[in-house]
Amino acid sequence: KIIILDFGSQYTQLIARCVRELNTYCEIQPCLKPIQWDASIKGIILSGSPFSVNDAGAPDVDIAAMAAKVPVLGVCYGAQLMARNFGGEVGKSHVREYGRAFMEHSNKSAKLLYDISPRSQVWMSHSDTIKKVPEGFEIIAVTDNIPVAAFQSTTLAAHPILGIQFHPEVTHSVEGKMILRNFLVHICGMSQDWTPAAFVEETIARIKAQVGNKKVIMALSGGVDSTVAAELVHKAIGSNLYCIFVDNGLLRKDEFELVLDSYKHMGLNVKGVNAKDLFYNALDGVSDPERKRKIIGGLFIDVFTSEAAQLQDIAFLGQGTIYPDVIESVSVNGPSATIKSHHNVGGLPEKMNMQLVEPLRFLFKDEVRRVGREIGISEVFLGRHPFPGPGLAIRILGAITADKVKMLQEADAIYIEALKDDNLYDKVWQAGTILLPVQSVGVMGDERTYEFTVALRAVTSTDGMTADWAHLPYEFLAKVSNEIINRVRGINRVVYDISSKPPATIEWE
Ligand code: XMP
Repeated sequence: KIIILDFGSQYTQLIARCVRELNTYCEIQPCLKPIQWDASIKGIILSGSPFSVNDAGAPDVDIAAMAAKVPVLGVCYGAQLMARNFGGEVGKSHVREYGRAFMEHSNKSAKLLYDISPRSQVWMSHSDTIKKVPEGFEIIAVTDNIPVAAFQSTTLAAHPILGIQFHPEVTHSVEGKMILRNFLVHICGMSQDWTPAAFVEETIARIKAQVGNKKVIMALSGGVDSTVAAELVHKAIGSNLYCIFVDNGLLRKDEFELVLDSYKHMGLNVKGVNAKDLFYNALDGVSDPERKRKIIGGLFIDVFTSEAAQLQDIAFLGQGTIYPDVIESVSVNGPSATIKSHHNVGGLPEKMNMQLVEPLRFLFKDEVRRVGREIGISEVFLGRHPFPGPGLAIRILGAITADKVKMLQEADAIYIEALKDDNLYDKVWQAGTILLPVQSVGVMGDERTYEFTVALRAVTSTDGMTADWAHLPYEFLAKVSNEIINRVRGINRVVYDISSKPPATIEWE
């Protein structure tokens, strides 16, 4: 594997995804955390950073010690750190380079630039620049603006040390991926064999070894992650996996029945638990969003633990945790490592005293989908939009009633169906309807109405952290509005949410 040391750049995860798209496994770790060396580590990449290497307190690492073991590639800040640490010079340049630049090179023997065009577009984002490379290094590429776009060690360490000022991980660096490939293949000797098929095989073997003939319990949500995770565990241990799928009364229209049915078709040993009334009763009269979340999370744990208690000798809890939930990243405010810990089902592992089985712990979302495809999971699961754990409860503003849930389910079903019919479903990242606690006057036939308003939400995004409202066609919105108002009793007005995140959020609560 490759270790990517994170110095706090916004692009660190992009480097990881790029390396993995090259079928090479990598892990991100905070720059100041000591590397746990073992024979599987074949190279190190040092990321960019919001710091300047000349700042007091700028994060620093012992590159020579790393290069004694494996090749090291520095990107942007990483490259500047190399230059400075080996006695070169880094300083503010009179030209700051942001955006497009053209890298020129002619050194035919530089492995990092094998097969790269002599003049290649790269993407820059730096105000410091490397003014002089240290002794024992040579420049292998320049741009019109800067004298050092790429450099490499000549004699210094047991393994090559290479630095590049530009960001190979962004798509605007046209041959960036090939440059990373050169590093992985020609310099680190990686064989690009980390494929979905290899991952599946390896993971099933790992689960078998971890669990043996003991039993695992898992909560399913109908989402991509828990479904793929469950199927991997199922492939490893068969009927020793016990799944529970809870109907909290806050799912989409008919979703509980449909999803439960699909799970059974997949051969999963799954129990559907109808707990609607329990949730409705506990939520009665509650309108504060955080209280709703807490009540739903708490009740879920109660239902799940009581179901688990009816089974004997369960030793493991399976979860669909994915990599973005567990990456320890470097805070932009300081080099100290801030750790974001996250459990899909908060509080469960501690409460139940079980060990965790998390087969997707090191995968990004798109990788989970690829693995899902590899093991034959239906596109109905793989292409599904994200759906929040608290479900429709946080899409009904104000207090929740069974009638309101029903009204929203109908409106939502019309909207989602229409998105699918018009081939728009896969073009947006997430879509849903929100029931507003607002009634307004309308006229239907000859009658005055005084009914509720539904807001339609659709966003484009890559990870849900930022999002833009989707520019859906007017004709489409007109059609959906018409259908909802005509078909759903209690709704006489439909509006479209045109807020981006930030400053708004995707959900309304
Ligand atoms: P926001 O509203 O924060 O949503 O922009 C970002 C993404 O997270 C989902 N979301 C949740 N998921 N429990 C969840 O499991 C929650 O409490 C929750 N709140 C928001 C939301 O649907 C979107 O995909």
